[in-house]
Amino acid sequence: MAVERTLAIIKPDAMARGLADKILARVRQEGFKVVAQKTAALSKKQAEGFYAVHRGKPFFEPLTDFMSSGKVVVLVLEGENAIARWREVMGATDPAKAAPGTLRREFGTSVQNNCTHGSDAPDTAAFEIGYFFSAHELL
Ligand code: RTP
Ligand code: MG
Repeated sequence: MAVERTLAIIKPDAMARGLADKILARVRQEGFKVVAQKTAALSKKQAEGFYAVHRGKPFFEPLTDFMSSGKVVVLVLEGENAIARWREVMGATDPAKAAPGTLRREFGTSVQNNCTHGSDAPDTAAFEIGYFFSAHELL
């Protein structure tokens, strides 16, 4: 297993409900190293660029409205097998189908409002990390 980096986002629903500290505590509990962290407010265009892979899908418009509706916390997490492991900690996209103990099961309220994002593969992780952070912020 290799040390990987993945991009995580605490989405606007979780931020609005004051869940950021709980989610950050879980990040640390799970042993991830936080390589970089920033609070941001995405514009609609920035949200569209981030989720460009979903352009044309029925949920693209509401998703990018949602992601640009309030502040987010963007994190680069590092650890063994970090990409798959963070997705395990988050749980399935639909909170109703997410396993007990996962963040989305615990905090998510709908398929869209599922509190957290995680990269799904090494190539998407590289794109997503570069979307938010410069090389000098990732040392
Ligand atoms: P994410 O990219 O945010 O980590 O989520 P994911 O891989 O589990 O799911 P993905 O298929 O990439 O979808 C991205 C986000 O779009 C919203 N979504 N809504 N209404 C719907 O059917 C629907 N499907 C997806 C969710 O916010 C999902 O996390
Ligand atoms: Mg995804």
